[in-house]
Amino acid sequence: MTSSLPSSPSSTPRAAASTSSALEPLLSVRDLRVVIDGLHILHGVDLDVAPAGVTALLGRNGAGKTTTVKAVMGLVPRTGSVRLAGAELSSLPTHLVVRHGIGYAPEDRGIFAGLTVAENLRLAERGARGGEEGGEPDYALVHELFPELKQRAGQLAGTLSGGQQQMVAIGRTLLNRNRLIIADEPTKGLAPKIVSEVAEVLARAAEAVPVLLVEQNLALVRRLAGTCAVLADGRTAHRGDTAELLADEEAARRLLGVGSRHPLAGGPRPAASPATPVVTTEVKP
Ligand SMILES: Nc1ncnc2c1ncn2[C@@H]1O[C@H](COP(=O)(O)OP(=O)(O)OP(=O)(O)O)[C@@H](O)[C@H]1O
Ligand SMILES: [Mg+2]
Repeated sequence: MTSSLPSSPSSTPRAAASTSSALEPLLSVRDLRVVIDGLHILHGVDLDVAPAGVTALLGRNGAGKTTTVKAVMGLVPRTGSVRLAGAELSSLPTHLVVRHGIGYAPEDRGIFAGLTVAENLRLAERGARGGEEGGEPDYALVHELFPELKQRAGQLAGTLSGGQQQMVAIGRTLLNRNRLIIADEPTKGLAPKIVSEVAEVLARAAEAVPVLLVEQNLALVRRLAGTCAVLADGRTAHRGDTAELLADEEAARRLLGVGSRHPLAGGPRPAASPATPVVTTEVKP
């Protein structure tokens, strides 16, 4: 956690450069278990996040995706192993997990509607007090990737479009020179046109920092994510190549609930479809 993020998104991703092997996962989760109020929510989640680009975390509603990312962040009690670039995080509280370099854009975006764009970004600054995170907030990177955030610095975040709010949410995670960004359903509830904007936001972010993307929009997943893990009933049900999974209609139906009326085989960059649950998401060929 001492090196800087590249100043240009086209540079080598920092995390890829900092791991000993490009094949080694950046984040490695094993046998993750969560019990809340006596309820067993996760029963053994295994997940690897690639050291570059986008890795998708998939699964039907209630499969345990949000709980998994909350457990990684230390927001719920957990057991099992969570290793980030070799460092074991599973016993750390959230503020120390964050210092290891994970930026989290939660399911509800966590934007302060009554504050400006600039104020939302400033609140996310972790500072440069010589902690593990090191370095000044990287406004240059955020403004390079999302010039609109500079132009709209004085605008109240509550008056932004859904896509612009996601820019703020993702921009905050990039500000702090993180090794990994986790985005939980960033397209949820957004109109199709805005989904395309968010896809572009994520693609730009992933050029700078690896992304773990929780998503139910399979067109978006196919466009962005090289590898994926699928959860079912609080467990990992499948891990592997995203394109292969989505091309296998039987497996996709079994794991994700996609019906045969929604063919999954198609071109490499289909138009992003609305952020509807997997069972109703139509992927255009
Ligand atoms: N704090 C909690 N207390 C009790 N049950 C919970 C709690 N948090 C999650 N659950 C339950 O655990 C299961 C997994 O929830 P989770 O939010 O992780 O699913 P998800 O895959 O993110 O779903 P979605 O696609 O709807 O966002 C659900 O059945 C949910 O109701
Ligand atoms: Mg969720």
